[in-house]
Amino acid sequence: MWLIVVLHLLLLFSMTQANLSTTTTQSSSSSATIPPPKVLQINQTNFNSTLQANDVVFINFYADWCHFSGLLSPIFETAAQRLAEELPRSAKVVLGRVDCVQELQLAKHYAIIKFPTLRLFYRGHELRQEYRGKRSVEALVEYVKKQFQFAIKRFNDMEQLEMIDVKRRSMIGFFDNRTKPEFAVFEQLAERYKHECDFYQRVGPPLVNVSYTQQMPTLVYRPDTARTHATDEVFKGDMAIKEKVEAWLIQKCLPLVREVDFSNVEELIEQRLPLLVLFHLPNDMNSVKDFKAIVEMQLSDCRQLNYVTVNGLRFQHSVRHMGKTYRDLPIIAIDSLKLMYPYPKFKDMYIPGHLRQFVESFNNQTLKHESLSSNSTELPANSTFKHLGPSKHRYSLIAHDEL
Ligand SMILES: *[C@@H]1O[C@H](CO)[C@@H](O)[C@H](O)[C@H]1NC(C)=O
Ligand SMILES: *[C@@H]1O[C@H](CO)[C@@H](O)[C@H](O)[C@H]1NC(C)=O
Ligand SMILES: *[C@@H]1O[C@H](CO)[C@@H](O)[C@H](O)[C@H]1NC(C)=O
Ligand SMILES: *[C@@H]1O[C@H](CO)[C@@H](O)[C@H](O)[C@H]1NC(C)=O
Ligand SMILES: *[C@@H]1O[C@H](CO)[C@@H](O)[C@H](O)[C@H]1NC(C)=O
Ligand SMILES: *[C@@H]1O[C@H](CO)[C@@H](O)[C@H](O)[C@H]1NC(C)=O
Ligand SMILES: *[C@@H]1O[C@H](CO)[C@@H](O)[C@H](O)[C@H]1NC(C)=O
Ligand SMILES: *[C@@H]1O[C@H](CO)[C@@H](O)[C@H](O)[C@H]1NC(C)=O
Repeated sequence: MWLIVVLHLLLLFSMTQANLSTTTTQSSSSSATIPPPKVLQINQTNFNSTLQANDVVFINFYADWCHFSGLLSPIFETAAQRLAEELPRSAKVVLGRVDCVQELQLAKHYAIIKFPTLRLFYRGHELRQEYRGKRSVEALVEYVKKQFQFAIKRFNDMEQLEMIDVKRRSMIGFFDNRTKPEFAVFEQLAERYKHECDFYQRVGPPLVNVSYTQQMPTLVYRPDTARTHATDEVFKGDMAIKEKVEAWLIQKCLPLVREVDFSNVEELIEQRLPLLVLFHLPNDMNSVKDFKAIVEMQLSDCRQLNYVTVNGLRFQHSVRHMGKTYRDLPIIAIDSLKLMYPYPKFKDMYIPGHLRQFVESFNNQTLKHESLSSNSTELPANSTFKHLGPSKHRYSLIAHDEL
């Protein structure tokens, strides 16, 4: 309680200071030329053209009434100034701001539900993840500069490859010759999908002990093994056909079904979509594989939900909430972020169309009415995932790092 009062006082104090300091700078620099603002005011009219004309557009979606928007504003301005000084002139980058009170349509389109929200657009594409790092000039500058780094990391021997980040998905290209069309395709796609996957590349003769380098060029997908315990997969198609490679890459790097844990579930909850969850035993990779395949087959057109798999032992709390134990795993359930609806029998997912029907009856509210009126044992439990969303203290002055 006291902390909150102190915080409020601090806030008020800092805002008064901010007002004071702006007044003083304005009066003292009235004779000097005021530099043009470095942050572009973006609205419905110039939004698309700004995205088209730049490689990187980093946008602060703000609301004037919000304290934290006010606090971020000068920091964002300084970051823009620093980037203008430090990046080469050829870098096509814009830091922009969208007033979400004026620009309701834009705010709605980008599902802005809190202020300020920072989102980066890379070559016209909105990044899947919003910016969630520190709100300091240093960190913002670093984040934008990182977008200009070359997408592909080079390596020579397999030992180096063993050191890659196993919490991230990786695409690894093996080439014997740079001048081939396959190489150009790989470079283009790496640039386009570098936020979704890490890209590695080796140019050289085949490696004795690595079977898939006997025929080159070859493309290997290494999943986020730390989370999924899955193994490498080799692309079977023609690497010179960009569309073919891209389709495979999207399937791997932007999967419909994702394994989540406590470190990455928060951003998912923030999308406010219901979840279809598979709770599985940590070593039960078959259920995970089958669940993924079935969801991809039956539900790829149904994007009103997020599809995830979780280690049922780590998420025991949720399992117990549904009146079950680890012995009942695997379990499928929908967490609407209000209630949790267990899928009656895991094995039924193998009946063609059955899982889809379950999701449909959730979407059309039948599930809700049935489970509330009937006296089945499968009563909905309270949501456990809604508590895993971002902390209320995210934007406080204390919590510098928001993740
Ligand atoms: C700061 O200035 C604005 C207008 O310039 C005013 O509306 C606001 O109340 C001031 N805030 C404080 C804390 O003095
Ligand atoms: C949109 O923003 C641009 C540049 O900031 C400005 O020139 C223009 O008047 C704005 N248009 C509207 C409708 O607000
Ligand atoms: C901007 O582009 C999007 C998608 O390409 C389109 O849906 C939207 O209508 C465009 N907005 C304007 C104002 O041109
Ligand atoms: C690479 O391929 C090009 C054309 O396909 C060829 O001219 C060149 O000699 C090759 N280089 C090597 C090192 O094999
Ligand atoms: C390749 O295999 C041989 C024999 O199986 C082994 O001696 C050698 O160390 C291996 N090299 C690498 C790079 O793993
Ligand atoms: C809801 O969806 C289920 C499953 O597809 C279907 O059986 C049911 O008839 C639907 N109910 C309504 C009211 O649309
Ligand atoms: C609920 O239970 C009662 C008796 O236990 C049974 O007669 C009734 O048919 C059940 N209703 C439903 C919808 O299952
Ligand atoms: C679910 O939450 C409501 C209030 O949020 C509470 O009253 C109720 O007891 C909870 N039910 C269970 C089974 O925990």
